[in-house]
Amino acid sequence: MTPHRKNLPRALPSTSGGAARKPSPFVKWAGGKTQLLATFDEYIPEHFNRYHEPFVGGGAMFFNMCRRTPQLSASLSDLNQELINCYAIVRDDVEQLIKALKKHKNESNYFYQIRSLDTSSLTDVERAARLIYLNKTCFNGLYRVNRSGQFNVPFGSYKNPRTCDEDNLRATSKALGKTRIVHRHFAEALKTARKGDFVYLDPPYQPLSATSSFTSYTSKCFGEDDQKQLASIFAELDRRGCLVMLSNSDNEFVRELYGEFRQEVVYATRAINCRADRRGRISELLVLNY
Ligand SMILES: C[S@@+](CC[C@H](N)C(=O)[O-])C[C@H]1O[C@@H](n2cnc3c(N)ncnc32)[C@H](O)[C@@H]1O
Repeated sequence: MTPHRKNLPRALPSTSGGAARKPSPFVKWAGGKTQLLATFDEYIPEHFNRYHEPFVGGGAMFFNMCRRTPQLSASLSDLNQELINCYAIVRDDVEQLIKALKKHKNESNYFYQIRSLDTSSLTDVERAARLIYLNKTCFNGLYRVNRSGQFNVPFGSYKNPRTCDEDNLRATSKALGKTRIVHRHFAEALKTARKGDFVYLDPPYQPLSATSSFTSYTSKCFGEDDQKQLASIFAELDRRGCLVMLSNSDNEFVRELYGEFRQEVVYATRAINCRADRRGRISELLVLNY
């Protein structure tokens, strides 16, 4: 591995405190980055133009960026259409969303009725409320679909799930204000990044072993070819003059893909794993071109 080629930008201090509610993810997402935000803070460039996050998921990094830079100019996307619809509704129609969420009930039979609904029969607000409701009341609070794109997580039987956190929904709606939100493949999303922009890439991780994968964010899996395509786009963004930061699992395949770039090891606790004995502290890789 060659050392990084450009000078490290000086880190900004984290922001905290203040009266207004700080926005945080409105859904729990497998691979969410909340626990790594403090570690990531020191790697975020001090100056950049636009922010791009083409694997936005629960948006932990985006909402953290908003807390640092309230006027952030950002472009967010993901291949999960239900999730992107939800972001757009939180941004554009948060009061109707809150009303729709309040109608949902934390009961097993009701949960399975809502889970089995054909989403094409629902309005965009109802679809967004359904996703948040299922995410908050399902087992382990995650979003997972089968090969036909059907949400397939069982009921969680939690006593008081926070299905409708009105204050946070309003805070996230404000933070999303002028953000561009698009449903698309990462390769399309990255065509719009320009010199001086900051791009954070958090793809589905390359599995550490054949049995350890969680790749069901959408009906399509994210395989080795996708990882290779992403690595070549990373190199192209580097040539274009973008500041690029990527998270992935710490293994030889990923280390080799990004061999010419700076690599840092960070530590995370694996929270979403059906086997309790595999929920440990694991090393992850951060790849940077600055
Ligand atoms: C590791 S998660 C991102 C987690 C996010 N950083 C967070 O804090 O919640 C990866 C995301 O990539 C999305 N995804 C999978 N394949 C994709 C593709 N080909 N293009 C864009 N997004 C994709 C998934 O839907 C998922 O939301």
